[in-house]
Amino acid sequence: MSDSLPQPLAPPSRILMGPGPSDTHPRVLSALGAPTVGHLDPFFLKTMNEVQAMLRELFQTKNEMTLAVSGTGSAGMETCVVNLIEPGDKVVVGVNGVFGGRMKDVFERAGADVLAIERPFGEVFSADEVAAAVQQHSPKVVGLVHAETSTGALQPLEEIAKIVHDAGGLLLADCVTSLGGLPVKVDEWGLDAVYSGTQKCLSCPPGLAPVTFSPKAVAAMDARTTKVASWYLDMSMVRNYWTDSSRAYHHTAPINMNYGLHEALRLALEEGLEERFARHRHNHLALRAGLEALGIEYAVEEANRLPMLNAVKIPDGIDDAGVRSQLLNEFGIEIGAGLGPMKGKTWRIGLMGDSSSARNVLLFLAALGKCLADQGSATQSGAGVAAANAFYSN
Ligand SMILES: Cc1ncc(COP(=O)(O)O)c(C=O)c1O
Repeated sequence: MSDSLPQPLAPPSRILMGPGPSDTHPRVLSALGAPTVGHLDPFFLKTMNEVQAMLRELFQTKNEMTLAVSGTGSAGMETCVVNLIEPGDKVVVGVNGVFGGRMKDVFERAGADVLAIERPFGEVFSADEVAAAVQQHSPKVVGLVHAETSTGALQPLEEIAKIVHDAGGLLLADCVTSLGGLPVKVDEWGLDAVYSGTQKCLSCPPGLAPVTFSPKAVAAMDARTTKVASWYLDMSMVRNYWTDSSRAYHHTAPINMNYGLHEALRLALEEGLEERFARHRHNHLALRAGLEALGIEYAVEEANRLPMLNAVKIPDGIDDAGVRSQLLNEFGIEIGAGLGPMKGKTWRIGLMGDSSSARNVLLFLAALGKCLADQGSATQSGAGVAAANAFYSN
């Protein structure tokens, strides 16, 4: 045996309260370790059917084309873009954070004629702004981020979907961070293409990207005159593997990741969607009470705040990286740094999926109180915990 053989992995036990991944539920971890079967094994085909059926419930849709793309949330983004867009197609994309910017980049790489509308980080688009851009550009697709993880802002979509449809377009929504923590009502709101990820409010490790396409989006794909630029993500082939009547091999599905997602979806539906959304909101409000008592303000207007991603302003005189590394090293708690123009100015505190619990809120507030006190902050270190406890007791 080589002297340089690394030791077996022994990952530290963390409390994941950043922008994702969130804590993986123990039942999901066990599901991931179940025996691997072949990708065309009848057991796996049944698993795929069940994953699809549960995803439809989560997306609140009847869309036939609902499945888990092999890859992380960004693969879901690329899947939607490359399948809907042919070179020269017109697109309007909203850029009010890092992920809107990434969507713009992906549209451009697919050869779209892109009109980007912009808002400062932390703000959202009004229906009127989108309507004006739609009128100006007559896009085939409008792309927006429902839950901007980089800023903590929630983009309302329902009114915009109507505007886009009235102009004959399709609405593409990034629901990577919202799915499983906030309602994503695909059919009722009229979303045409939606992608998500497993590692946020579903509390499954990163590795699959749930997607769903409306019949109108599928018709647009079927009407293409050019080949989809990506072989791997070409839905005209992938869908045959995910359709019971054909089951044509396309690529070897990540079998065990699908087991994990299957259990994560079971957990979400077992809890109940409304109950799950209420839990995310309740813990967000408790955290808010605690943060406010520590003198910490949110970076996003109250009306647009995400419950699962709390972007807050770092108090004056406090060392951003110092607090984050103390939280990690002393308490095992991970939170996120600010991104883009919010770098060094904000912390991103995630309460996603299994990580959204009173235990985590109270532990985090206690730990943060200590970190702030260690840096000489004048606020009372226990004030956050006391305020959150008062909230929970009411
Ligand atoms: C809103 C949003 N979109 C897209 C992505 C990309 O997903 P992934 O990192 O899983 O590829 C993320 C990841 O954080 C995200 O938060």
